[in-house]
Amino acid sequence: MADTHIPQNALAKAVDLESVRFSAPDLQQMQSFLEDFGMTAIADSGDGVLRMRGIGNAPFVHETIEGEPGFVSLALAVRDLADLQALAEAEGIAVEAEPGPGGGQRVRMTDPDGFQVEAIAGRTRVPPLHGTPNYLWNIAGRRERTGEPKRVASAPAHVGRLGHVVLGVSNMERTWEWWRSRFGLLISDEVRAPNNDLAALFIRCDRGDEPVDHHTLNFASIPGVPPKFHHVAFEVADLDDLMAGGAHLAAKGYQHEWGVGRHILGSQVFDYWRDPWGHRIEHWTDGDLFDAHTPPNVTDLPTMLGHQWGPAAPVDFAA
Ligand SMILES: [Fe+2]
Repeated sequence: MADTHIPQNALAKAVDLESVRFSAPDLQQMQSFLEDFGMTAIADSGDGVLRMRGIGNAPFVHETIEGEPGFVSLALAVRDLADLQALAEAEGIAVEAEPGPGGGQRVRMTDPDGFQVEAIAGRTRVPPLHGTPNYLWNIAGRRERTGEPKRVASAPAHVGRLGHVVLGVSNMERTWEWWRSRFGLLISDEVRAPNNDLAALFIRCDRGDEPVDHHTLNFASIPGVPPKFHHVAFEVADLDDLMAGGAHLAAKGYQHEWGVGRHILGSQVFDYWRDPWGHRIEHWTDGDLFDAHTPPNVTDLPTMLGHQWGPAAPVDFAA
């Protein structure tokens, strides 16, 4: 799969993840969980969609529609209307107005495994929310806080932004070609199975010299396992915020799955939870940032599922 190492022409360029959409039978229950997870509900648009934001500048990062539990779609921001027009032309469809809050325009597509993908341009930015925690740390060699005590509130974490989505796919090469050719993505880590089959890809956006998250998308393929949503991850303020936020979720009786630990690939400190219907949802902080010049790395499954510190992954995490 040598061509995964070379950025190639693409119809458009993704600049970041915008939002994810789920379906659940009880929007009030979802709202309560997400508030405990560290998000804030935005004003009801009257369209039956629960929308939650973080403290960052995205108008919303998580949507829920009423229905059977499940993952519905993800939205990626592309650079501009020209990117949308190129995608629409290739799909033989039209660019649509985005009807939700934040506006902008969109192109809706379906990837080879049936995952619904929206490309978005022109969605509004909003003022960040107040009430951010004290980020200043005194670590060896770098003193940031003098003259004030650190006090961490016993409260939900402060979700800042959507970080990444992980999907199980049926054919890695086909999936990679579909996403690469539309969104101009880059590979951070290529994970090989013992037989050298491509087992997973950790994928980031190409913003040139501007550093971006080590992975915005992660595709994994296990022979015999059908395509399915694996998890969505939201960045929180810092380690204190992640720990206090986890204690809050535990006190509320929510289902914890794995953490706290530090991943190897991407290096972020992670903590995995389940929403009331079992959708896996991650708090993370302190991840790696790469610009477009960082070359791809080839690695193996134990490295992908391993950790630098923290508990071992539950046996069914990869499946
Ligand atoms: Fe993750």
